[in-house]
Amino acid sequence: MSQPVHTRLTKVLGCDYPIIQAGMGGPGRSELCAAVSSAGAFGCIGMVKEKPELIRSEIEAVRGRTDRPFGVNLVPSVTDPVLLEEELEVCFSERVKVIVFFWDVRPDLVARARAAGCKVLYQVGSVADAIAAERAAADAIICQGVEAGGHVRGKVTSMVLLPQVVDAVSVPVVGSGGFGSGASLVAALALGAEGIHCGTVFLATDECYAHDYHKQRVIDAASEDAIYNDVFAIGWPPQSPVRTIENSVTKQYENDLLGHGPDDFPLEVIARDGDDAVYRFSTHSPLRGMSGEMEPLALYAGQVCGQIKQVRPAGDVVRDMVNDARHALARLRSLE
Ligand SMILES: Cc1cc2nc3c(=O)[nH]c(=O)nc-3n(C[C@H](O)[C@H](O)[C@H](O)COP(=O)(O)O)c2cc1C
Repeated sequence: MSQPVHTRLTKVLGCDYPIIQAGMGGPGRSELCAAVSSAGAFGCIGMVKEKPELIRSEIEAVRGRTDRPFGVNLVPSVTDPVLLEEELEVCFSERVKVIVFFWDVRPDLVARARAAGCKVLYQVGSVADAIAAERAAADAIICQGVEAGGHVRGKVTSMVLLPQVVDAVSVPVVGSGGFGSGASLVAALALGAEGIHCGTVFLATDECYAHDYHKQRVIDAASEDAIYNDVFAIGWPPQSPVRTIENSVTKQYENDLLGHGPDDFPLEVIARDGDDAVYRFSTHSPLRGMSGEMEPLALYAGQVCGQIKQVRPAGDVVRDMVNDARHALARLRSLE
């Protein structure tokens, strides 16, 4: 591993490089998280709406693979309150060091997580929510631009939002949405961020739990194919936008991509994940071991997919990003 790159963020997280692998519910499990953390960046398991037993076993699985720090991602406002309590209980009793929350800012949960000894990162999509998360005492703010993959809270691009959030808060800020290379890490640092948070670039890795079909679509996609829509609606509150690769569902709704909710669609089973039914128009993405139709599922990806050309080991992605960042910095210094 090359020299660490420290910022205030790496001090909060205890990792070597200011690169966070986004906790992707479904594809982001222990194998990916451990590979990223072992490589010196910061892995997260995406545990939105997962059962407490799975969360516990995934935490143990990460710990079985690496002794480097990692985080758990939860999305409180889309999770049944009883399940959310169980999820938090597992994180607290397992002494998880870092929790990454997303979507509506919940000051009560930040306070509880900090009281339980966790560091809290909050992913937000606006200056107002960044200020709310800082007031709630989050340890760092992840600022999500509209180019991001998965569920999208940001309404404007990272380039525009990130410097505004940096100006508005004093805790470390992390760029999210559109970051997938070393040069983009340097760009985020130039805009005042202290790290980047990446989902799509870690989807196309060997260790990611996504179905191979999803990984192939990510490497085949051009940036223009990553469509902002809310037709993958079953499972989240109404009008929760996502960015997914164009497929038969987004084509069917190409003139009506926004303004939908879960009750607008019939419950039609098109795939299975073990014993669980997976519905057309649901927020489920294709995962390892799923059977049925993969093409119509939510093929989450950010606009950065256009830069991703192959499926690689996650550790190589981290190493190349760090090396590329050093080259980009050297190039900039040569301009002085
Ligand atoms: C496949 C996928 C699943 C995601 N699932 C979650 C999730 O469960 N929780 C969450 O906080 N963010 C989730 N996100 C969004 C990421 O946190 C992050 O905002 C996004 O990936 C950043 O943009 P990028 O895809 O351009 O790197 C997901 C993103 C992707 C691509």
